[in-house]
Amino acid sequence: MVHSSRRRNFNKKKGHEPRENKWRDDRDAPGNQGYREVLKENEKYWEYYKQQNVFPLEQFDEFKAALQRDLPVSFRFQGCHKDREQLIHEMENRFFGKIVEAEDTAVCVPKSLPWYKEAYQTPMSRTAVRSHPILAQLHNFLVTEAELGNLSRQEAVSMIPPLLLAPTSEHYVLDLCAAPGSKTTQLLEMIHENDENPKGMVIANDVDMKRCYMLIHHTLKRFRTAACAVTCEDAARFPQIADSDGGLIQFDRVLADVICSGDGTLRKNPEIWKKWTPQDGLGLHRMQIAIARKGAQHLKVGGRMVYSTCSMNPIEDEAVVAQLLRDSKGSLKLVDTSKMLPELKRENGVNQWKVFDRDMKLYNSLEDISEEKMKKVIVPSLFPPTEEEAKEMNLHYS
Ligand SMILES: C[S@@+](CC[C@H](N)C(=O)[O-])C[C@H]1O[C@@H](n2cnc3c(N)ncnc32)[C@H](O)[C@@H]1O
Repeated sequence: MVHSSRRRNFNKKKGHEPRENKWRDDRDAPGNQGYREVLKENEKYWEYYKQQNVFPLEQFDEFKAALQRDLPVSFRFQGCHKDREQLIHEMENRFFGKIVEAEDTAVCVPKSLPWYKEAYQTPMSRTAVRSHPILAQLHNFLVTEAELGNLSRQEAVSMIPPLLLAPTSEHYVLDLCAAPGSKTTQLLEMIHENDENPKGMVIANDVDMKRCYMLIHHTLKRFRTAACAVTCEDAARFPQIADSDGGLIQFDRVLADVICSGDGTLRKNPEIWKKWTPQDGLGLHRMQIAIARKGAQHLKVGGRMVYSTCSMNPIEDEAVVAQLLRDSKGSLKLVDTSKMLPELKRENGVNQWKVFDRDMKLYNSLEDISEEKMKKVIVPSLFPPTEEEAKEMNLHYS
């Protein structure tokens, strides 16, 4: 099992379209102007993350400043490798030289991500990219290619889980919480990479019927494949599936990109600045465990599962993985991914964290619960592992 946490993904629900596949800046739409005026402060949030040690404290100011900046633009070329290379070549030849020649310090040429060469990022925000005259042609090109399905506007960290899963054309892949489907598409590309008719397939599941519709009619319609099936089930109860001979299918790869507080998505979901409390993570913890557990049950012996969230909260990340390992009694082990994507800057996982409630009251153990109603919220699996457990679990793996 691979634990991929601390990704900052962006999934604002909007209309009927999968946001991650859109290029236009919806925040500029009439009626959405309020987004710009959000005060990018939340004292509980800052205090909570100062206490959790998920990154060195001396980086706190940098962390805060990064969350308060606009989200940098990133996009990924889709399709088979030949088409991708041709399109990348075209983009670089047609636009990059002109941008460099303009010598405008406000404009940055998109750069290929060191850990994913088909993906590009520029520190400029979407609004800046859209509005700068030197970038107008590049912007139009990106919009057109996104509409043709050759390019996906996807936040860089959202690209990591499929890369760590690394399915091949032989693999059966279960994507438990798939909509709107940017990772599903990436997984499909990978199983098609060297094989037009792969033996393997992706089952893309989501509990939300409308989001399944988006997945099928917006995301997957641009991807010609016979190797994908969409199901609409509660992932925590995902049923056994039988093949044509009646044998039960176990999956080589499972992605549990679970529902979460999204507290790593502040840059794209500004309403979180106003609303966030530690309760957001507490309330989802049991559901996250249930989904991850079901994913593990569907995994083949020797298979690989990635558990991922858009949160940096150890309650939503390490605590869930710890409970999964505890429950598995040695059948699951955490994989050290430090040798995969070596250019990706990352922090190690943590073995220790603190449990706070909505009002930032600290609970060191279950004995600290004084109110009856909190017994349902503060559950044993929220607490960090004992020293002995920690030695076995390797939650520090990056
Ligand atoms: C973080 S989003 C997934 C993003 C998606 N993997 C992607 O890359 O585009 C979480 C998804 O989980 C779905 N979800 C929430 N609870 C679920 C459940 N019990 N079973 C299956 N899906 C669930 C939501 O509808 C939402 O689409």
